Amino acid sequence: MENCSLPQDALFLGFDCSTQSLKATVLDANLKIYATAVVNFDSELPHYKTKDGVYRDLLVNGRIVSPTLMWVEALDLIIQRLEMSKLDFGKIIAVSGSAQQHGSVYWKRGSSVVLASLDSKKALVEQLGDAFSVKESPIWMDCSTTEQCRAIEEAVGGALELSKLTGSCAHERYAGPQIRKVFETQPEVYKNTERISLVSSFMASLLIGGHACIDHTDGAGMNLMDIKLRAWSKKALEATAPDLEEKLGNLAPAHAVAGLISNYYVERYHFKSTCLVVEWSGDNPNSLAGLTLNAPGDLAISLGTSDTVFGISNDHKPSLQGHIFPDPVDAEDYMVMLVYKNGSLTREDIRNRCANKSWEVFNTYLQQTPPLNGGKLGFYYKEHEILPPLPVGEHRYVLENFENDSLCGLRERTVNEFDAPSEVRAIIEGQLLSMRAHAEKIGMPSPPRRIIATGGASSNKCILSLMASIFGCNIYTVQRPDSASLGAALRAAHGWLCHERGAFVPIECMYMDKLEQTSLSCKLAVPAGDQELVAKYSLLMKKRAEIENDLVQKLGRT
Ligand code: ADP
Ligand code: XUL
Repeated sequence: MENCSLPQDALFLGFDCSTQSLKATVLDANLKIYATAVVNFDSELPHYKTKDGVYRDLLVNGRIVSPTLMWVEALDLIIQRLEMSKLDFGKIIAVSGSAQQHGSVYWKRGSSVVLASLDSKKALVEQLGDAFSVKESPIWMDCSTTEQCRAIEEAVGGALELSKLTGSCAHERYAGPQIRKVFETQPEVYKNTERISLVSSFMASLLIGGHACIDHTDGAGMNLMDIKLRAWSKKALEATAPDLEEKLGNLAPAHAVAGLISNYYVERYHFKSTCLVVEWSGDNPNSLAGLTLNAPGDLAISLGTSDTVFGISNDHKPSLQGHIFPDPVDAEDYMVMLVYKNGSLTREDIRNRCANKSWEVFNTYLQQTPPLNGGKLGFYYKEHEILPPLPVGEHRYVLENFENDSLCGLRERTVNEFDAPSEVRAIIEGQLLSMRAHAEKIGMPSPPRRIIATGGASSNKCILSLMASIFGCNIYTVQRPDSASLGAALRAAHGWLCHERGAFVPIECMYMDKLEQTSLSCKLAVPAGDQELVAKYSLLMKKRAEIENDLVQKLGRT
């Protein structure tokens, strides 16, 4: 493979605007971490009064939003943090970023003029206070758009048709249904909207001082883009809202340059005026880049606010369960993904209720309880779940006559509670069994070639051990949990390189022969579990899937 070395003194900056925080990672030309910073929304921007970075609307069922201006203010704050760490912004030759997927931002008419004339003497937040027609952006956790989802699916010929066309059936959190809801409930606001961005393209817009394109990968998480053509689908646009194409602007590949960094940052923080801003993308796609997933059968499990499971596929198989996006680092391939809304916050809830608010106690319980949990199975949905689509609730079962050797033909009985240690094991086993079952359904091999675990909870070795026993493969971790901002910094370097060469170059060429010397390498955390136990977990997985199907028949939509 050709040599793709980067200018020796150069730095690359990647952000990650996630649900709870804005993070930054700076990579040097050897792809080693040079600096990092983080701004936590709840604690460091307390005047927005968010909880976990969001507002949960108590009046409108399922409405979950974040104040758009909080992200604006966080951007100045994190750059100031990096400045305090004596980072020389003049050495940064490219910037990119990750953001939570699907959230939508509504720019008011006239906002492009404000963006183009930012005054470096004033903070962004002082200048953009009136730039948004919707002040609170619906985010990926929002599930108040069920009606809009069904209407869009119906208009294009059904859920599977929409999945064939756009890569996913309609999901409450996707931008298309969110946009349709704004149009239906606030037509004047919709009319007064000049541009609709995703959180990713919105953050890129703040950096270039103009409306940035939506990239193909994050654009696939809207139910609006034709997944094969990588262009807006007329059919999907018409099913969503009128005059939408002009409000969405153009699409671009993730490795494209969005523009030069705005003068605002050149004057205020001394960035070089030639610094490129590479298109931002979603956090999961950037994690895929940052985790260097590069072979079919490689699987990543991200245990963050949401839990996500993703891998690479060269085929586009429409499904009602998972999502398909263009691969953010290789235009030929696809990225397949599963998303769970009940991730870290639901684990924390059980930890707080059952394990004295301590991960240490939580882990002691995991170690004290037997594998397979004596046939105790739990389903925990603190939030309306995406996979499977089930409302808030908890469901506990015990398999009757459970013996470790035979799980076939066992019947389950509902119970109201478990003892605390069993509750802790039930949530972790349940989440991992569900991931394995659904990953196999969307075509990932069993066992996977390897799993790379990331996200806040991947620091927990007990959880990783259980993952190895359930999936039956080696579990690797990266040196630090934030692979989304790291992946964004790597993509900044990739975008810079493609721009410099005037053509697409494979991202691997930047690290292939020297992975171990970079901060991108992953290390073996837990070797594959005992295969006899893996086989028992396979049976338990099937039993759990049957119960899950029954729950969906009774309580959810099929
Ligand atoms: P985000 O999706 O906002 O980027 P992170 O990936 O930073 O979230 O993950 C944050 C979460 O990590 C916290 O909500 C916390 O529950 C979880 N976490 C941190 N340490 C542990 C641990 N030792 N065991 C399990 N979960 C943990
Ligand atoms: C992905 C999804 C979440 C968010 C979290 O489809 O909705 O993983 O990207 O930030």
